[in-house]
Amino acid sequence: MGTNTSQERMQKKNKTLGEFIIENQTEFQYSTGELSKLINAIRLAAKVVNHEVNKAGLVDILGAAGETNIQGENQQKLDVLANEKFKQTLQNREIVCGIASEEEDEFIPINSQDEQHQNKYVVLIDPLDGSSNIDVNVSVGTIFSIYRRITPIGSPVTLADFLQPGVNQVAAGYIIYGTSTMLVYTTGHGVNGFTLNPAIGTFYLSHPNMQFPDTGTIYSVNEGNYIHFPQGVKDYIKYCQMEEEDRPYTSRYIGSLVSDFHRNMIKGGIYMYPKSSKASNGKLRLLYECNPIAFLAEQAGGKASDGYGRILEIQPGELHQRVPFFCGSRKMVEKAESFMARYA
Ligand code: AHG
Ligand code: MN
Ligand code: MN
Repeated sequence: MGTNTSQERMQKKNKTLGEFIIENQTEFQYSTGELSKLINAIRLAAKVVNHEVNKAGLVDILGAAGETNIQGENQQKLDVLANEKFKQTLQNREIVCGIASEEEDEFIPINSQDEQHQNKYVVLIDPLDGSSNIDVNVSVGTIFSIYRRITPIGSPVTLADFLQPGVNQVAAGYIIYGTSTMLVYTTGHGVNGFTLNPAIGTFYLSHPNMQFPDTGTIYSVNEGNYIHFPQGVKDYIKYCQMEEEDRPYTSRYIGSLVSDFHRNMIKGGIYMYPKSSKASNGKLRLLYECNPIAFLAEQAGGKASDGYGRILEIQPGELHQRVPFFCGSRKMVEKAESFMARYA
């Protein structure tokens, strides 16, 4: 009874994502509503994928799909399914001129039925982040990143439209399929989080203006790779474990970037995927993972670095490029960078 009342109150008081998108359209000078339509399409695809993820275990969508992606990783059935759903939704609505996905070798140009189409945005997605957690009922996510094309509107989209530094992002966000499903995004005016009410299929603004605490006590890193890390990272991890001031910190690592980032943004913390002697650029992908998460981090008052400099300023050289990643509360990232600098 109490829950019902507070749920009703939340629904009366809180904006829906749809209302929020319309209200904030005017933030963009010369806005034609195209970006709003695009975010609406992502909202729709998110609900579809959420529905599928929630059925995992009941229907035959767990496990490996039997293919490897361009990065040599085994594709899971849900990787493939999420990729298809996002692609279909964006393609059918003809609101972007191109899509690049972690699960596709090449970018996909979108040729509209309408020869004269004026679509100016490209989307880059990690359709299913945290693949290793699918089969064990642990939170996974979707990450998206949106740019304005740099080649002329109406002409075929090119690789250059996708290989833009993260500072050029117009919008970015993620969906987290967790204990509840949330869509969190930015258009460069702060970060807002929306929670899905699954009963009625509506996202409500539940986390307005999300902010990273300036510092925190959580460090998130795959310590199984410890002996392969650069000395600066090893020293920083030891620093986190030392009994001084507010330390030792606590270690939390889910293995889904989206979930690890989401927790750290709320509680304060640092996420690290450094390079190692096994992987010279770490594991995470600059275009599908690091840039969108870095944009969100900065918009929430946090920081994102490759250990030495700002992620968002890196000029990408290829679609599936990897980069070491240090992201989270500003002071913690700066501290990690100071350890890295000792061995630079
Ligand atoms: P994806 O499932 O899209 O391939 O991404 C997995 C990424 C990221 O989500 C996570 O933080 C990281 O891989 C975990 O890697 P380890 O298992 O090497 O720690
Ligand atoms: Mn991922
Ligand atoms: Mn993925």
